[in-house]
Amino acid sequence: MAGNVVVLGIQWGDEGKGKIVDLLTESARAVVRFQGGHNAGHTLVIGGVKTVLHLVPSGILRPEVRCFVGNGVVVAPDALLAEINELELAGIDARSRIFVSPACPVILPSHVALDQARERARGSNAIGTTGRGIGPAYEDKAARRGLRMGELLDLPACTSHVLELVEYHNFLLRKLLNSDALDAAAVVAQCQMWGEALSPMIVDVASELERILKAGEAVLFEGAQGTLLDIDHGTYPFVTSSNTTAGAAASGSGVGPLTLSRVVGVVKAYTTRVGSGPFPTELFDSVGDHLASKGHELGATTGRPRRCGWFDAVAARRACWLNSVNSLCVTKLDVLDGVPQVQICTGYRLDGALLETPPVDSRALSRCEPVYEVMPGWEQPTAGAKRLSDLPTAARCYLERLATLLEAPLDIVSTGPDRQDTIVLRNPFGQ
Ligand code: IMP
Repeated sequence: MAGNVVVLGIQWGDEGKGKIVDLLTESARAVVRFQGGHNAGHTLVIGGVKTVLHLVPSGILRPEVRCFVGNGVVVAPDALLAEINELELAGIDARSRIFVSPACPVILPSHVALDQARERARGSNAIGTTGRGIGPAYEDKAARRGLRMGELLDLPACTSHVLELVEYHNFLLRKLLNSDALDAAAVVAQCQMWGEALSPMIVDVASELERILKAGEAVLFEGAQGTLLDIDHGTYPFVTSSNTTAGAAASGSGVGPLTLSRVVGVVKAYTTRVGSGPFPTELFDSVGDHLASKGHELGATTGRPRRCGWFDAVAARRACWLNSVNSLCVTKLDVLDGVPQVQICTGYRLDGALLETPPVDSRALSRCEPVYEVMPGWEQPTAGAKRLSDLPTAARCYLERLATLLEAPLDIVSTGPDRQDTIVLRNPFGQ
């Protein structure tokens, strides 16, 4: 029987998961998004043609793959429709292959207004959210007052729920956040339009997955953001509002945990972070500038510059055991080409003590000093390499060291943005 694979980021997101999901879905019949929303930005390059996805699962470029948006995802219907239109303009039949759970919370325009107004109100303590309404939509879910995708199909019930919800949001916007209120009737009209446009795509995702799994077909679970942005295990409060870790693949899509046979942890060969929060290995020198420019480190969703730094094996090792990572994928190795010496953070120093595991508290983490191991760099290009033996010895040593520190087998190395710029040592689907 085919195994099922979770692909997730074990840093602060932007590890290049989209490309890996697209690559591995060659072996899968279905791809499922299980958390996050259109705060994600997954860039795929196939034959030089670039596609950026936010909400649509990264299996969409393979015509035989069905794409599911599980109950753990917060859905902005306008963003979903815009993305589908864009894909269709590019000749991809998206509409008939995307299935959205009726249990997904809906992101309303008032969630977006709240997200942005709260960030303004936080001033210098802003989290640096993507401003897409993600946090407020998850808040409403947890508070049991949120609107779910299935409700868009029942207009009378949806109308009264939306009016009540927007009235509540308007109260917060006006009274607490000194911001403009929204026109609730206009939001109702939008919901009506969304329900009509999306109704054929709203299906019981958990039941569909059960059928696919019973038939012995392989499923890929696609994480968004990264482990260090997990609401519980990340650098709280500078995190996103969902669980980004492997356990959420089960709860956020409606399958049992024993369904997940392999967990691919995707790491960049260095570290980046968008938004605020502690980042012990952040660089403010010419190497940081090199990583940012050579790595094109601009957020795929917001276009914000990403902060760059050395590989943090302390944080990544914790992320590996939090997720049961049993397959490692290192991306963007080529960005380190030409760096004379590469460094890996293997410990933190805090108040005179040497830590091998990061502190849970973000304030303590922000006081940690990285302890580095220095390795020789490599001059020869690794870009586009397809076999491990094509890589310079120093690059191979670097990869081996990462796998040893993270205690996970190295299965995939990505050496460029294109689907074909990849070294696959072992297919996580076991085929
Ligand atoms: P939110 O998810 O928009 O609420 O943003 C919370 C934090 O997560 C901010 O620091 C964002 O920059 C970060 N974030 C959200 N989505 C992504 C992503 O896909 N990649 C990297 N960072 C992200």
